[in-house]
Amino acid sequence: MAKKTGVKKAVKHTAKKAGLPTAIASVVSGFPMIKNVGLRQVHVADTLICNIDGNHGKLIYRGYSIETLAEYSTFEETAYLLLYGNLPTREELAAFTSAMKSERTLPPDVLKSLIRMPRGTMPMDVLQAITSTLAGHDPEIANTTREASVRKAIRLLSKMSTVVAAWSRTREGEEPIPPRDDLSHAANFLFMLTGREPDPEYARVFDVNLILQAEHQFNASTFTCRVVASTRAHLYAAVAAGIGALSGALHGGASNEVIKMLREIGSADRAEEYVRTKLSSGDRVMGMGHAVYKTHDPRALILRDMAIRLAGRPGGDRRWFDLSQAVEKSASEEFRKMGKHGIYPNVDFFTAVVNTALGIAPDLHTPVFTMSRISGWCAHIIEERFAEAQPKPAIYRPLAHYIGPGSTMKSLPYVGIEKRRKGKEN
Ligand SMILES: CC(C)(COP(=O)(O)OP(=O)(O)OC[C@H]1O[C@@H](n2cnc3c(N)ncnc32)[C@H](O)[C@@H]1OP(=O)(O)O)[C@@H](O)C(=O)NCCC(=O)NCCS
Repeated sequence: MAKKTGVKKAVKHTAKKAGLPTAIASVVSGFPMIKNVGLRQVHVADTLICNIDGNHGKLIYRGYSIETLAEYSTFEETAYLLLYGNLPTREELAAFTSAMKSERTLPPDVLKSLIRMPRGTMPMDVLQAITSTLAGHDPEIANTTREASVRKAIRLLSKMSTVVAAWSRTREGEEPIPPRDDLSHAANFLFMLTGREPDPEYARVFDVNLILQAEHQFNASTFTCRVVASTRAHLYAAVAAGIGALSGALHGGASNEVIKMLREIGSADRAEEYVRTKLSSGDRVMGMGHAVYKTHDPRALILRDMAIRLAGRPGGDRRWFDLSQAVEKSASEEFRKMGKHGIYPNVDFFTAVVNTALGIAPDLHTPVFTMSRISGWCAHIIEERFAEAQPKPAIYRPLAHYIGPGSTMKSLPYVGIEKRRKGKEN
């Protein structure tokens, strides 16, 4: 009896800690169990890398607010911060930037593999395949020390932008443009894309865009990377898995969907009808809503300001920004009428607008996101692999609640193939 009371207490305690009703916590073999589809509100690890307050729209990387980093930092410095845990001194940043520059070029065999891929291959599939190919070219692939892991992260982080730009040109039948080592990471990417040195304001906007997308704690792709790293698979394997997760329309693929949506709407006066039709038929408005933010996504606010600035430049194209505003206004009105609160534009909504203003093709928005998020992924892979935020490494192994036949562990009788009937339980 005393044991039963103890278990009941433990269930209550566990449910309370996870912010869940006791009803969905249960007991299996004397252990309190919690079922939470989608792992919402469940902490599965400790981390030193990133914190989010979804109710107040706050995001920090290693203690620094996203607003501070967007204003004062650069992508290279932010990547350093994520990987090493502190802002670099001038000398440390110079060494890191120079290491990144020295890793920009793709090995000739890798470039050949990329060029040979069918032109219609989806860009995220190219990134995933080339990431695995690059593993075979990393001289330290078998070196599992932390120092070597950071060097691998720098190689991959640096090369990924070359892969994205090279694929953009190759699929158009154009020659890839070799990287330049006198440009920042952001400016060099825009250069490799077009062959023209970018306007400094464009380069800075793109740099900030990369900072904003670099890290976001245990989102689906980062969690995927950490799960793979927890098995002690190497960094390239973990990143390749993360790329697969990021490609989905409900995650990094959303930005591409936003531009598709804006194109489909075509003009601001059609936004209201489009949004109403979508929502009344149970569809989603892409680029709206977030699993963690129940108020404005702080990254979206910064991007929105940048989108306004770009639209207001002499010769700037206001079309996409104006359209996005019409969609935002109509969606917020419809969500209000439907009694759905806390759904606002997310980071993908405005990266779609900003990237389009920078001349980046819609289906490259998620690859560009990857170029940036790799820095956060690698920081998490290293934190996971070396148990930097918890006492010891642990392989992820959640449970599923089995609801199929034989759920009482009583095995079904085996029916020989000659006696089985289609559509019947055999
Ligand atoms: C990101 C997202 C998956 C997070 O949602 P979530 O926290 O898991 O919440 P749910 O998917 O359970 O949605 C909660 C409710 O809000 C609604 N909702 C959330 N986002 C919505 C959107 N963009 N359009 C329409 N309805 C939305 C859901 O339909 C659901 O309604 P219901 O309770 O009546 O079923 C979701 O907001 C979404 O699909 N957004 C569009 C895709 C996107 O922009 N992804 C990028 C995220 S950075």
